[in-house]
Amino acid sequence: MHGAQPETWWRDAVVYEVYLRSFADSDGDGIGDLGGLRRRLPYLVDLGVDALWITPWYPSPMADGGYDVADYCDIDSRFGTLADADALLAEAHGLGLRVITDLVANHTSDRHPWFLAALAAGPGSPERSRYFFRDGRAGGSEPPNDWISAFGGPAWTRVRDPDGSPGQWYLHLFAPEQPDLDWDHPGVRDDFDAILRFWFDRGIDGIRVDAAPAMAKVTGLPDAGHGPGALFESRTWVGNPHWDVDGVHDILRRWRRIGDSYEGGRLFVTEAVVNGPERLSRYVRPDEMHTSFNFDYLASPWDAGHLRAVIDASLAALEPVGAPATWVLSSHDETRHVTRFGRARSAAATMGFDTGAPAADLGVGLRRARAAALLTLALPGSAYVYQGEELGLPEVEDLPEEVLQDPTWERSGHTSRGRDGCRVPLPWSGGRPPFGFTDDGVEPWLPQPADWAGSTVAAQLADPTSTLSLYRTALHLRRRIPGVRSGAFSWWRTADDVVAFDRGPAFRCVVNLSDEPLDLRGAGRHLLSSAPCADLLPPDTAVWLEPGAS
Ligand code: NOJ
Repeated sequence: MHGAQPETWWRDAVVYEVYLRSFADSDGDGIGDLGGLRRRLPYLVDLGVDALWITPWYPSPMADGGYDVADYCDIDSRFGTLADADALLAEAHGLGLRVITDLVANHTSDRHPWFLAALAAGPGSPERSRYFFRDGRAGGSEPPNDWISAFGGPAWTRVRDPDGSPGQWYLHLFAPEQPDLDWDHPGVRDDFDAILRFWFDRGIDGIRVDAAPAMAKVTGLPDAGHGPGALFESRTWVGNPHWDVDGVHDILRRWRRIGDSYEGGRLFVTEAVVNGPERLSRYVRPDEMHTSFNFDYLASPWDAGHLRAVIDASLAALEPVGAPATWVLSSHDETRHVTRFGRARSAAATMGFDTGAPAADLGVGLRRARAAALLTLALPGSAYVYQGEELGLPEVEDLPEEVLQDPTWERSGHTSRGRDGCRVPLPWSGGRPPFGFTDDGVEPWLPQPADWAGSTVAAQLADPTSTLSLYRTALHLRRRIPGVRSGAFSWWRTADDVVAFDRGPAFRCVVNLSDEPLDLRGAGRHLLSSAPCADLLPPDTAVWLEPGAS
């Protein structure tokens, strides 16, 4: 550290995920952009969040919504310019908001100059050694090993040589348009050092590390033992040669040293979908990343015992490494939790491999989602809010097939619709699409449901019982009442269908996941509840209380 103490704002921050192309459009092309985000910064300040995480904004062919980067040191012209990014940073900082950007370092776009050079240079060239090019098996016609892509199908694609004949294969753990970099290549490491500095020098407060567990592979690329039709269920993998390989931690330590060289330090949050809290805790050891999304919590069904077990296991695994927990309910990769919690089977499937069945009861789902918000915002550590969850938006499950863009749709052979349903542009105001997201008469890049008039920001701001009002009140209380952010965590009551805990002597959260009302007499003074309640806490409802007061 250069003299200054490391900052610790991230330990209990609420971070709002901005899925940029669906947040707000300022130039009338139907795609969200930095201008739209700048205009809406006051909304985020009023909401009461501490920081923004902005999904990839780099020049990209958008084969995977920007997670296929063609230039790491610029802004895609659909989103704006570097000057817009600088202006956004200055304005956000002026309003007291931190800004976290997304770094996709496991893979580039297949249009990145490094990959184009590798294709042109041919087998055995230094250019190809930045990626994983290998000869195929069975005389070249079969992929080099059995590794699979997160979007379905094999993780290898064969290229054509300049004379048109079939050539080597290259590795892509995601779409074919996202070739994996070989992080054992010193040039790759050095180039990303420079990329990190480029953004930190511009004033970025933190980095969200995309697909962190993918960044190291076992030498020799041995088979993983995946059976035919295997899915990318990395939460169950043990000893997998292409995921959560220990070498990834060397890369993360190197990045941490760079972040720490800036005054006050810079935050790193990893996306690491790995096998359980102990493996996850390795990403947040003191010399590695600061935080890591808790996917076990995100994936949990609406079940008190399950939630309690995940909370216990997460806190127990993080305690020895001294890292805060990071609670997440939704993201641009998962079925929105209003819909998930409205299903009989309410656990999340990752990365869009969600068949949509069984059908959701959205009334039940919204009621549970509101309770889950109070639960999430009362837990110790930091929390992420995915844009639109504060509006109680459901997954859009009936997008016409011809508008689907997520690679999962094609790569699953049209069996999984993928993640577009949670990426539909936000409704801001008005009675019909585009609901203030873009100019009237312009079609957003994904169509919005015609019946979202009651869900717009404008409509919900005018309604004190709306989900937006609930989030605003909860976030403001979280700031005002010290116990919510810093009080010691202890379980209060552990009845089968209840999640109830204290945060110090002056704050209590009780969530009723049973079918029966719960007697709350003597539990404390009501501060906020997710549905009306008095002495009895209705089913699927959460309440914040001040114990000892009435
Ligand atoms: C995780 C991102 O959140 C997801 O949207 C993307 O498809 C993959 N990583 C690949 O970059």
